[in-house]
Amino acid sequence: MNATPHDLYPDSGAEVAASMPPMDTTAMATETTLLNPRFYTTDFDEMDKIDVTPVRAEWDKLIAQMKSDPNKGHFKKTEAWDKVDWEGMDPALRAEFIDFLVSSCTAEFSGCVLYKEMKRRGTNPDICELFSYMSRDEARHAGFINDALREAGVAVNLGFLTKAKKYTYFRPKFIYYATYLSEKIGYARYITIFRHLEAHPEQRFHPIFKWFREWCNDEFSHGEAFALLMRTDPKLTNSFSNKLWIRFFLTAVYATMWVRDHARKDFHKALGVDIDWYDQEVFRKTSAIARQVFPVELDIDHPRWIPGLRRFEAAFIAMDAANRQGGIAGRLKATVAKARMLAAFVGLYTIPVIRSTPPASVRLEPAY
Ligand SMILES: [Fe+2]
Ligand SMILES: [Fe+2]
Repeated sequence: MNATPHDLYPDSGAEVAASMPPMDTTAMATETTLLNPRFYTTDFDEMDKIDVTPVRAEWDKLIAQMKSDPNKGHFKKTEAWDKVDWEGMDPALRAEFIDFLVSSCTAEFSGCVLYKEMKRRGTNPDICELFSYMSRDEARHAGFINDALREAGVAVNLGFLTKAKKYTYFRPKFIYYATYLSEKIGYARYITIFRHLEAHPEQRFHPIFKWFREWCNDEFSHGEAFALLMRTDPKLTNSFSNKLWIRFFLTAVYATMWVRDHARKDFHKALGVDIDWYDQEVFRKTSAIARQVFPVELDIDHPRWIPGLRRFEAAFIAMDAANRQGGIAGRLKATVAKARMLAAFVGLYTIPVIRSTPPASVRLEPAY
């Protein structure tokens, strides 16, 4: 399915859009590749059966905080929203920045869709209440990014995306691992960029980064909710097989983030951020937080870690090029590249992990 021109250039951005090469952002967001944020679906009935009694005191506190809605008025443009010179922006930077915004918007909206569905299908009042607050937050986040995209004339058609995007089924426990990690990584990414630009305001080339501090608090709380959900059943994090799954998700999520960020060289250069440093910093923050609930942690200082990520990235680039080439030669090359990716992944997965004992209490406060 293709988006209509109106989806790509709705209203206010039309003039800017007319002066720039067309970008099919809705199609970008709809595509399902290894690197694009996915949409998820799960066994909603199983999720609805969660009993939060074992974590009731911490749960009630978290829900009260979400209900008070501290960021209610935050996701609106104020006078701090400086005018963006989209037309004057270097074309390579503009393309990568739009790709970053589309990918972020899709990820935010993916959370919104999943959480809304949990609320809609659920009957458990605790679960319904939690997911109504979380879908509220994610809708705001996605909408705010889309506003920024609209100024460039390339907003994503979110309604279209809900229908056109493929949904990936994950069992509830995999939703917990993947979503917990993506919320905490979201927090770590937003706050790391915010702090960096606070120290180097001359590199803040777009006003949206000014909104990242309060934004990261929402993601932090969402992660806390999943930490509590996992705490309701210790088997989810302590059984032998689940520890292997947690290790798998940590490796997969970190390696994918590495490849995705390294594909945006101009974007990170404009921010003045060294991508290796940034990714390791985000992994470090995420790993430190995840000790609250995961009994294993990846050793990101291990001598095989960064070389393994580079091998994984090189194999991904080769696979991408082979897929683009097409034909028999392209298919052969893609098969070889996939085998290299798998080998690199296995190399990363088998790095000995650091074992930790999660504390008795789960709730954390964001530490900037
Ligand atoms: Fe979000
Ligand atoms: Fe979130």
